[in-house]
Amino acid sequence: MSFASTTNQVQGPAIHVQGLEKSYKQLQVLRGVDFEVARGSIFALLGSNGAGKTTVVRILATLLRADTGTARVNGFDVAKQAAGVRESISLTGQFAAVDGILNGRENLVLVARLRHLKDPGAIADDLLARFSLTEAGTRRVATYSGGMRRRLDIAMSLIGNPSVIFLDEPTAGLDPEARIEVWQAVKKLAEGGTTVLLTTQYLDEAEQLADRIAILHQGRIIVNGTLAELKALLPPAQAEYVEKQPSLEDVFFAVVGEAGEDDPNGDTDKGSQDRLTMSTKK
Ligand SMILES: Nc1ncnc2c1ncn2[C@@H]1O[C@H](COP(=O)(O)OP(=O)(O)O)[C@@H](O)[C@H]1O
Ligand SMILES: [Mg+2]
Repeated sequence: MSFASTTNQVQGPAIHVQGLEKSYKQLQVLRGVDFEVARGSIFALLGSNGAGKTTVVRILATLLRADTGTARVNGFDVAKQAAGVRESISLTGQFAAVDGILNGRENLVLVARLRHLKDPGAIADDLLARFSLTEAGTRRVATYSGGMRRRLDIAMSLIGNPSVIFLDEPTAGLDPEARIEVWQAVKKLAEGGTTVLLTTQYLDEAEQLADRIAILHQGRIIVNGTLAELKALLPPAQAEYVEKQPSLEDVFFAVVGEAGEDDPNGDTDKGSQDRLTMSTKK
């Protein structure tokens, strides 16, 4: 399968988000979210449970309207050019869309047929090979491991060559081995030129996969950068101790703690200071 996109490629970043705000009744979830995702890169939106990650993804996928702000995906405005956005994207992750009674290959062929693509069999075989599922292709999906199912799910979402793929917590609930399998599949996607926006609450997932990481906290992106840039936010380890690079976890708690300063519940800032001190003295 060739990776020339079937959708109009528009110049500029694959995703551009500016001033996005969204409330559910009284609950203000997004308070002005801004970020960009370069084409062919992996971008991780990192945040705790309830931070608003799925809300961002649903807005970008045209499933939900923002209250204010603009977002463009593949050059198309999510509010005004929803059809263009939908042709450019696929969304997968939290809901396994695969059918357990069919085998892996049949699932892929079915979706290719539904999309009226030429030669569904060849498309299916190519995707099975790319996701190391050729052997498993003739087995009923009901017999697959969690990692195999998720890989098949990602493979299915690639049918039709979307130029942007949204993976909403792609490894939630998977065991460590399955997570690594999915990570490898995601890396291959980006190598093939697909832009990947993934959401995760796992710091190691962002650390392993992402070209850039943005931390969504209390409705805003409080940090956005490469892993190296994020690590550089913390003071370097002191010389009299064995040097330890700060992990993304150290950075996360330091910046989340700082942003929580105006939190009415209190002393998150002090907590972060303790952690910051600890992490730089190790
Ligand atoms: N349809 C909805 N109606 C009301 N509240 C919602 C709805 N969807 C999400 N929320 C709330 O908005 C917040 C953010 O949710 P979500 O975007 O799903 O976060 P995340 O994906 O980061 O866990 C949560 O507090 C959640 O309970
Ligand atoms: Mg979510």
